[in-house]
Amino acid sequence: MEQNDRPKTTGSLNQSTQVLQTRRIPLMNPVLDGEMLEAALHALQSEKFVMGESVHKFEEEFAKYCGARYAVSTGSGTAALQIALQSLGITHTDSVLTTPFSFIATSNAIIHAGATPQFSDTDAVDFNLSADGAKRGMTEKTKAIMPVHLYGRPCRMDEFQELAQQRGVKLVEDACQAHGAEYMGKRVGSFGDAACFSFYPSKNMTVGGDGGMITTNDEQVSEAARCLTDCGRDGKSKYAMSRIGYTSRLNSVNAAIGRVQLQRLDGWNLARRRIAVLYRKELENVKNIELPIEDISLSYAAHCVNVSKRDSPQKEQRRVYTIQYRFTYKPRTGERTDIARGTFPQASFSREKCSVSHFTPA
Ligand SMILES: Cc1ncc(COP(=O)(O)O)c(C=O)c1O
Repeated sequence: MEQNDRPKTTGSLNQSTQVLQTRRIPLMNPVLDGEMLEAALHALQSEKFVMGESVHKFEEEFAKYCGARYAVSTGSGTAALQIALQSLGITHTDSVLTTPFSFIATSNAIIHAGATPQFSDTDAVDFNLSADGAKRGMTEKTKAIMPVHLYGRPCRMDEFQELAQQRGVKLVEDACQAHGAEYMGKRVGSFGDAACFSFYPSKNMTVGGDGGMITTNDEQVSEAARCLTDCGRDGKSKYAMSRIGYTSRLNSVNAAIGRVQLQRLDGWNLARRRIAVLYRKELENVKNIELPIEDISLSYAAHCVNVSKRDSPQKEQRRVYTIQYRFTYKPRTGERTDIARGTFPQASFSREKCSVSHFTPA
């Protein structure tokens, strides 16, 4: 469990916006305001606890927001990734190519789906998987590519779409950190055969707990995903099961909070972009820091800077702003012992050099 994942509200329903107040700017700062509490209480009092009306409305609204035809909610982002792969027919004989520079859940989900994660190195400029690298890393067993929009920076999806089409493989976006991020004027979530989001409280929007969402334009994929999230039910009757499914649904109370959060998302992302401009201005003359490439279409789940010495952001940032930060992920290779250290030099470099600060937009 992360620090600060619980907002310190006083819990009163008639208070307007209540935001965590701390002396330090924290890594995350989930908001739970009066409108969200009201919606949560209403869902608890008037809907089925599971798969109530709020869930269906949240799915519809989230699909529309992403520009996708369908959305299926899940119990977490990890479950969304696993179920999306399985809904696309990925199985134990297949490999899924992804980045070694991500949260461990990306490769966990591939393994949970029964497949084998394969890795190729990241791009030196944007830290994301590159389509050229992915192309070189693919083998006959590769049946899907899973680029990750890390820290809210979208991957170059036109290149991945072309590659996936050329090779006849599936494309799944790990958009767990990228709610509302845009690439070429389109929101992430509609580029792949499926895309997956997490609502864990550190994300740009949450549901007041764990949760996830799969978006897709393919009706069959959405039906398969719905069936897998709901114990394998085929939708015809309560006890008609057509698959070995999971219990990985979103609760109505969480969906009700998510609906209100979704309405706020664009405003929060705009605030994050404004803060990124401030960070840039204040950090540009600081020694030992290399700033990220600027891009207004990012959703800035975190603000990454490269540092030449591991302790330098701590000293600089603490002195000036007391901004909480952390160093980023170790290259994650599904904990495979057959992959030698240093196999992915760029991802290792990013681990050594990349520090992230989160934002407190509200
Ligand atoms: C890139 C990425 N993928 C997948 C996940 C998994 O999401 P969840 O924690 O909701 O299972 C996360 C969550 O932090 C993530 O950052």
